[in-house]
Amino acid sequence: MTTLKHILSHMIKKFNKYLSYKNNFLYLEEICLENIKLKFTTPIFCYSLSEIHDNFIELKKSFTKIKPMICYAVKANNHNQILSLLSKSGCGADVVSKGELQKSINNGIMPDKIVFSGVGKTTDEIKYALKKKIKQLNVESEEELEEIAEIAKAEKKNVNICIRVNPDVDPKTHYKISTGRSEDKFGIPNSRIIKLFEKYKNNKYLKIVGLSIHIGSQIQKIKPFETAFKKIKKQVESLRKLGFEISVLDLGGGIGIRYQENDRIINSKEYCLLIEKLFTNMKLEIIIEPGRSLVGSSGILLSSVIRKKSGEKKDFIIIDAGMNNLVRPAMYNARHEIFPVKRKNFKNKKYDFVGPICESADIFIKNNPSQNLQKDDLVVICSVGAYGACMSSEYNLRGNIKEIFIKKNKIINE
Ligand code: LLP
Repeated sequence: MTTLKHILSHMIKKFNKYLSYKNNFLYLEEICLENIKLKFTTPIFCYSLSEIHDNFIELKKSFTKIKPMICYAVKANNHNQILSLLSKSGCGADVVSKGELQKSINNGIMPDKIVFSGVGKTTDEIKYALKKKIKQLNVESEEELEEIAEIAKAEKKNVNICIRVNPDVDPKTHYKISTGRSEDKFGIPNSRIIKLFEKYKNNKYLKIVGLSIHIGSQIQKIKPFETAFKKIKKQVESLRKLGFEISVLDLGGGIGIRYQENDRIINSKEYCLLIEKLFTNMKLEIIIEPGRSLVGSSGILLSSVIRKKSGEKKDFIIIDAGMNNLVRPAMYNARHEIFPVKRKNFKNKKYDFVGPICESADIFIKNNPSQNLQKDDLVVICSVGAYGACMSSEYNLRGNIKEIFIKKNKIINE
């Protein structure tokens, strides 16, 4: 007979392979999560460093014909532990602010492996990027390019540019994280690209070396990538026919991860195969900018039950993590699975798991079957390694919470 215990054991591994039940207690790597509360307070973010390392190696190994530059999208999680681990593994960075650029450099990522994206780079940020001699700026508008050209001239600094193309492709993800449709604020439409290459072809300081693209995040199927990549490939061919030298192609990030047990998400192999099929013989330096797919699965949010509350229509489990710690459910209707740290084999009942914040949006999961939980029992909210801690706030004057890293039987708390 399949018991609730078996179901939990089977499910939890799908979110992070270093999560497992041993003697009915949940472990992350070799650390029993029940013991975390002896040393730290909840809520607390806990990450498996091995999971991040494995995700990076798996992505890297999935490429067999080309060796792209992997520039981690720092916005997904900018913790020093993550940046330094990825830097030591040879990863570069995709940054969108001076803060991210500085932090990446401080963690050992060499400027020649850093690309700078974003629609609103300020004058100060552009100057800083030029001073640091980063690999390239991914430019999102004609106006931005003009300003970079002026700054480069005034400061007598050379700069490499990729023009971000808006391919008008629907990535079929949540509308708030779709970035490649013509109505989105990102990139420059195909029809205006050639003009820019013409305008700057003889510029002394500014060199347009290629194109970039990023159509959205948490993309679950291969098709939108395929459509967008084919469009950009065509654009490269047209530019080359006109005599422009295109040496770099930055394909952005966007690979989705599993948030629910039955999610069917493309894996990195499929994604890499597509890139190799389209671009292997094109004499292009390929860059990719994965964020979520490298770190998303690594993190859990450990939280304690404050109390249960039985309502007229519903029963609630109120936990000490709230939407200020993890805003994704409130902001994108995202579902993050919740598991008990101490596994019992009691009958399931359905609860809404909610936080303590004074907003009705402060709900993690509605109608979630759960074992009977009591005050002070611990639960984990899964898949919070990306866009979790970095998007948190102190709303309701709840202070920032700790982030700890686990590697085998060690806890790194800095
Ligand atoms: N490159 C660029 C230019 C981006 O804008 C992004 C993400 C990435 C790379 C990395 O995408 P990823 O591989 O992580 O999908 N806060 C939202 C996600 C926002 C993504 C913004 N851009 C969420 O929690 O779902």
